[in-house]
Amino acid sequence: MNEVVYLNGIFLPLEDARVHIEDRGFQFADGVYEVIACIGGTFLDMELHLERFYRSATAIGISPPVTKRKLGELAHQLYLRNAHLENATIYIQLTRGRAPRSHIPPVPNRPTLALTARKLELPDDTAFTQGIRAITIRDMRWQRCDIKSIALLPNVLGRMEARRSGAEEAFWVDNNGHILEGCSSNVLAVIDQTLVTHPLDNHVLGGITRHLCLQLAKHHGIAIQERAWHPYEAGMEECMVTSTSWMLLPVHCINERQLPSPGPITQQLRHWLMQHLASLSKKKTILP
Ligand code: PDD
Repeated sequence: MNEVVYLNGIFLPLEDARVHIEDRGFQFADGVYEVIACIGGTFLDMELHLERFYRSATAIGISPPVTKRKLGELAHQLYLRNAHLENATIYIQLTRGRAPRSHIPPVPNRPTLALTARKLELPDDTAFTQGIRAITIRDMRWQRCDIKSIALLPNVLGRMEARRSGAEEAFWVDNNGHILEGCSSNVLAVIDQTLVTHPLDNHVLGGITRHLCLQLAKHHGIAIQERAWHPYEAGMEECMVTSTSWMLLPVHCINERQLPSPGPITQQLRHWLMQHLASLSKKKTILP
């Protein structure tokens, strides 16, 4: 299997791709990233992912070395060069580049841009029926979770804690016990027949799958509230997570609390999401 990656202007085999030890991504986690799903050759919400990527880069003062359109083309080319992949996630990583180790970066800097492609295993019906278990942990991340930073240490530790507890995901909770999001997912609940999720602010990443699910729900007449919520709220009937890799999975247990899973609204949403994906894969054009 020939895995091909893109690094600073060239496509090359994964084994040959090297980033310098003084890259600020390695030294300081000084960078941002993006993850886009490509399903049978069609990128899901490419434009929204690229927008978020440029927003993240701008927020930390890095200028991507290519235009948005060019980046979309690179992602497309990378998918085609990894011919063994039917469904893929394309990871885009951008760092402030190589420089002698100092907190203050040199001006100008030469950012490092890398794209990799991985197999995307879309959860099948069995995985959906099974759902996932989640634990809650106190939020210990920084105050700009809206930026898709490569500094993911808290998320890694959170996931490890989840694994130790026999769960698949850990949900960050604030000082008031409100659920913010997961280590690599957004969290939605059904409370009194309303789809509820934390509003977009600096404590959550504006998930593209979250956005899509809210759009689909709205389109089909499901009430939506973007507000703070906690897992022991009266009237809470269902819970689910959304992300590019998981798409939409029901949560059958939060800490010790069992939930009906998959609940009726979660099932509806999955059905609409699958319909949407099927309609996309019939399309020919995949560029933004
Ligand atoms: N993670 N919140 C966090 C902290 C995330 O890391 C992710 C995605 C999401 C969901 O965002 P989206 O729907 O745009 O994928 C929410 C990706 C998949 C990752 O890190 O691999």
